[in-house]
Amino acid sequence: MNVIVTGGASGIGEGAARRLARRMHVVIADRNLAGARALADELNGAGLKASAVEVDVSSKASVRAMVDWTLANVGDIDALFANAGFNRRADVGDITGEDWDAMIATHVKGVFLCNQAVIPGMLARGKGAIVNTSSDFAVMGVARLGAYCACKTAIYSLTKSIAQEFTPRGIRVNAIGPGPIDTPILRQGRSDEVFAEHSKHLLRGVPLGRLGTPDEVAVSVDFLLSDRASFISGQLVHPNGGQLMW
Ligand SMILES: NC(=O)c1ccc[n+]([C@@H]2O[C@H](COP(=O)([O-])OP(=O)(O)OC[C@H]3O[C@@H](n4cnc5c(N)ncnc54)[C@H](O)[C@@H]3O)[C@@H](O)[C@H]2O)c1
Repeated sequence: MNVIVTGGASGIGEGAARRLARRMHVVIADRNLAGARALADELNGAGLKASAVEVDVSSKASVRAMVDWTLANVGDIDALFANAGFNRRADVGDITGEDWDAMIATHVKGVFLCNQAVIPGMLARGKGAIVNTSSDFAVMGVARLGAYCACKTAIYSLTKSIAQEFTPRGIRVNAIGPGPIDTPILRQGRSDEVFAEHSKHLLRGVPLGRLGTPDEVAVSVDFLLSDRASFISGQLVHPNGGQLMW
């Protein structure tokens, strides 16, 4: 069994790659090739199966190259975790057109391109599983995160449409909506001191009272990509410490 994990060099993707490698060959796909290679080397050194490939998920040619490389060097793509992402915080009044476009290109177009590229092979085999990374913020509005929230809502919406289209032909497609997870995206642009203050603010809305770990998201991803989730498609699953209940 083979899985592609985009954004696999860091954070949630890295956590998923580590967990999925226990039962699958993991293709760690990231624009940070050095990071992807380091993780693949570590997993291979531990007797697991992993490869690294460079990708910019916002580019159709790059996504095509990632899929072609995987088919040629690893084999059929049984599963996809479309997870690559980044964040640019700004008031809606201040966000630049360039930042807006970059967010949409990586998150929304990236998820679309990766799903579109792996689905034909899954259709040919009549089976496949996909998880796309959305967020709790797909459903919550958050100040200074207008572009990010819009992207995550779009990913959830796209996931449901893809699930409606392809689940009847054997492909289950779900989204995950993590709450605050301690990864570089959350710390980016914040000193340790500012991050500690920000965490206190964030955690007021989290009944479990702490940040999640990448592996606490990875267990949901692993489950949704496995046959144990055989009756689940089109859902937004929340490893979120209770941040959002709806
Ligand atoms: N950390 C959180 O609290 C949280 C909560 C909900 C959702 N998410 C989402 O989880 C996903 C992973 O975020 P993370 O927290 O692990 O952050 P992270 O910064 O640790 O990891 C993101 C990875 O994506 C890669 N990446 C970014 N843009 C890319 C592109 N265009 N092509 C290929 N690779 C690219 C980066 O190089 C990095 O390795 C993102 O989609 C993020 O929006 C994070």
